Formats: sequence, C-alpha cells, structure tokens
Amino acid sequence: MKSKELLVVWCSTTGASEQIAREIERGARTTPTGVRRLHASQAQAADLLQGDALAIVTPEHLASMAGEMKTFFDRTYYSLLGRLEGKPYALIVTAGSDGAPTTMQVQRILTGWRLREVAPSTIIHMKAQTPAAILAPKLLTREQKAQAFELGQALGFGLDAGVY
Ligand SMILES: Cc1cc2nc3c(=O)[nH]c(=O)nc-3n(C[C@H](O)[C@H](O)[C@H](O)COP(=O)(O)O)c2cc1C
Repeated sequence: MKSKELLVVWCSTTGASEQIAREIERGARTTPTGVRRLHASQAQAADLLQGDALAIVTPEHLASMAGEMKTFFDRTYYSLLGRLEGKPYALIVTAGSDGAPTTMQVQRILTGWRLREVAPSTIIHMKAQTPAAILAPKLLTREQKAQAFELGQALGFGLDAGVY
C-alpha cells in the first residue's frame, strides 16, 4: 500500500515558524508517513489534494495571519472548496504575545474546507513585544522544538495507523 503523506505549509519572517515546520517534518520522518514541507508561496492547490493531512505553521502579523499565508489561502481556497472534506489538519501559530486572532482566522478557513482538526491548535509565544525583539531572529527553545517534533510524530504515526 502506498504510504500516506503529510503536507507542511509554512511561512516565517524571523525564523521561528520555519524551525517549527522543520521539526514537524523531522518528527514525521521517524514514522512510515511521507512528508512534504512547502513554503506558502510555493504550495499549490494540487499539493493540498495530494496530501493526506495538512500542517499549517504561520506567524501572527498585526493581529492577523502573516500575509504570505493569507495569499496562499486566497490563491487556493475557492478551487478546493468541497474537495478536501474530512482531511486531518493541525495548526501552529507563532506570536510575540497573542496569536488568538490568527488561530481563529485559520481555523475558520479550514472549517470552510471541512477539514478536521486532529491535534489542538497551538500558539507558541516567542515573548517578543518591543520592536527590536519582534524584528530579531528567533531561536526556539528545546521544549518548543520538542513540541513541534512530537506533533510531526503524532501526525505521521496517526496517519499511518489510519486513526484519522
Ligand atoms: C510585522 C510583524 C507584526 C507582528 N504582529 C504581531 C501581533 O499582532 N501579535 C503578536 O502576538 N505578535 C506579533 N508579531 C510577532 C511575531 O508573531 C512573532 O515574533 C513570531 O514568532 C514570528 O514568527 P517568525 O519568526 O516565524 O516570523 C509580529 C511580528 C512582525 C514581524
């Protein structure tokens, strides 16, 4: 039987979300499930049709998902409406201190596609609140990396076992 595939779509301005996407991929690679990690600017509707599950990783920008992620949804939303129903998804939002508006926006879009949330949506706080801290390159803590790695493993093993 062909192995299942996890699609990880990400964007990142100062590095945190990129590291998370890489850790999700690393975690999933310890499982029989295949992984493709695509930047939001590269991901196409066909990639979503092909993937058996979707992980979205985006920073929050000005109380909204980052523009690159929004453009990805703008490009693909209507051509995929009614064609992804029931696919499992997980969402990680990185934020300086909030993240709730972005979580709500992305969940709403994915609910429109009738995807199924199979892991609780997570906000990873980078504790950046001043302009200098917000613009500085980010490094995940060991715990944050482990969280993303474990999500990748859970998605990979879950997909392979058919629990979703
Ligand atoms: C232009 C810009 C706007 C931001 N706006 C918010 C915001 O509204 N709320 C928040 O909690 N964090 C905000 N942040 C902080 C980022 O969400 C946070 O640093 C995140 O970790 C960045 O992820 P990245 O390193 O993958 O780019 C903003 C950062 C930038 C660059």
